[in-house]
Amino acid sequence: MAVKKIKEGLYLINTLHWERRLFDELIPLPDGTTYNAYLIIGEHKTALIDTSDTLKAEEFLRDLDTIGVKKIDYIVSNHAEQDHSGAIPSVLEKFKEAVVVTNEKCAELLKTHLQIPSQKFLVIKENDTIDLGGKTLKFIMTPWVHWPETQTTLLLEDKIAFTCDFFGSHLATTEFLNDGTPELYNAAKRYYAEIMAPFRNIIPKNIEKIEDFGPEMICPSHGPIHTNPQFIIDAYKEWASTKVENLVLLLYVSMHHSTERAVRFLEQKLIDEGVNVKVFGLPVADTGEIAMALLDAATLIIATPTVLASAHPLAIYYTYLANALRPKTKYLAIVNSYGWGGKTAEDLKNIFSNFKGEIIDEISFKGLPDEKAYESLQKLAKTVGEKHRADGLI
Ligand code: FEO
Repeated sequence: MAVKKIKEGLYLINTLHWERRLFDELIPLPDGTTYNAYLIIGEHKTALIDTSDTLKAEEFLRDLDTIGVKKIDYIVSNHAEQDHSGAIPSVLEKFKEAVVVTNEKCAELLKTHLQIPSQKFLVIKENDTIDLGGKTLKFIMTPWVHWPETQTTLLLEDKIAFTCDFFGSHLATTEFLNDGTPELYNAAKRYYAEIMAPFRNIIPKNIEKIEDFGPEMICPSHGPIHTNPQFIIDAYKEWASTKVENLVLLLYVSMHHSTERAVRFLEQKLIDEGVNVKVFGLPVADTGEIAMALLDAATLIIATPTVLASAHPLAIYYTYLANALRPKTKYLAIVNSYGWGGKTAEDLKNIFSNFKGEIIDEISFKGLPDEKAYESLQKLAKTVGEKHRADGLI
């Protein structure tokens, strides 16, 4: 529970969810998260931008009470996902005169997911404005960060952009204002890698819209407020670019240490080639760390045993996730230890159907790696080194 006055007529209502450890039953949250809403009090009207997660609706209403707000005219919904919209029905119940202000797509999703009745909406279009009295809201569409309906609300007089998930971070902290600390950089990168990465092609256009506005502050709906907007804008530009690093992301699983032997050999040979390596043992890996490494790595290598005629289920799972995240990785290799057969590499390649780079090698060996397998692994390391050098990464 936290309320913070940001400036005259602007309050942050920051629902701190310190203990949350998983989002979408998928994404690890090592630092918890926050759901940020903003109350803007004009001379005539009051607007609330976003709310809180359904789970925290009661707490959210208590926070609103502490500000002493008696009337809310507008509830601006920048994004229909329930971690921001979940408390809208409770706010509507309490503030009966309020209307939900959003674009048509978002209104449809709010009707679908929260059963908010049609008559409660004021539907806006791109560049529409609402005058609160000395404070003007303007709406711009920033689709696919990360749902199709996402919008940004601008507060013109104060040069503030309320961007919801866009530029957010899963970081529970009472340091509500942040000018770009390393802690925020890492949390925002993790967030981008997990949530935004699949939409890399559309993100630059949305960044441009925000940058053109020239915000003095960016107020997302997760994590700290950016008091140095250029910090997060530049970080997003880099993550959304095609730039990759001299890095191999080596994902492996090994049941009886045969695949692991190959991985240990390969990591040393890559180091010998001047290539940086990040190795993740999939049974204990943090999905967010892997997603972040996928933003940087020029090469991905997946090493797995064959189980029941295909790749180990963990290798299948992480290949599926990599495919969904549409990484900018340029090179791919598969390393496989099998017992008596199977179609491991073929299955992984089929799952990774979004990969448009080059498959540089598929190494398959029976049981423990033999001399021929070690030769192939050494050759793979050499090829990776050559590719990275040719790309000017080393
Ligand atoms: Fe934070 Fe897409 O919701």
